[in-house]
Amino acid sequence: MATILVSSSRSAQGNTRRVASAIAAYLNADVISPAMATRDVLARADRIGFGSGIYWLGFDQDLVHQIERLPPMPGKDAFVFATSALPEPPFRQYLRRFRDLLEDKEFRVIGMFACRGAATWGPFKMVGGVSTDHPDETDLIAARAFATRLAP
Ligand SMILES: Cc1cc2nc3c(=O)[nH]c(=O)nc-3n(C[C@H](O)[C@H](O)[C@H](O)COP(=O)(O)O)c2cc1C
Repeated sequence: MATILVSSSRSAQGNTRRVASAIAAYLNADVISPAMATRDVLARADRIGFGSGIYWLGFDQDLVHQIERLPPMPGKDAFVFATSALPEPPFRQYLRRFRDLLEDKEFRVIGMFACRGAATWGPFKMVGGVSTDHPDETDLIAARAFATRLAP
């Protein structure tokens, strides 16, 4: 089964890139940037993973806009992965919003994975960094386990 991961990882640490690599290694998947995720490229995959760091309480806007530009992809399997410094707050359920975006495009969302990612920037730096050392080995093992649970 051909799998492509569309991943955006903006911070210097590349937290989401590391999670994408762990998932891609198990699924034997290519990892591409949002800009490369055109309809024609995605149409060649049986299953697509979309992931990013969380920036200002949402997924990377380049990734979001690229998905918004896609035509409907009826029944195409998709999954989601994300890293964030903090757990998702109840007042801004960005994971569900992102899932809704994919479902609006008629993807079949088969799984979602999220873990902490170190943030040492701006306001996070003022408190000495948040979730430093993440994703750690346990997070990457969990990401790999998530990949194993996806259908073959
Ligand atoms: C500009 C910016 C905004 C961020 N906003 C949030 C946020 O709203 N909530 C949060 O939990 N983490 C936030 N973070 C922390 C990132 O989600 C975290 O560091 C993530 O692992 C980054 O992934 P990356 O290394 O793949 O870019 C922010 C980081 C940056 C650089």
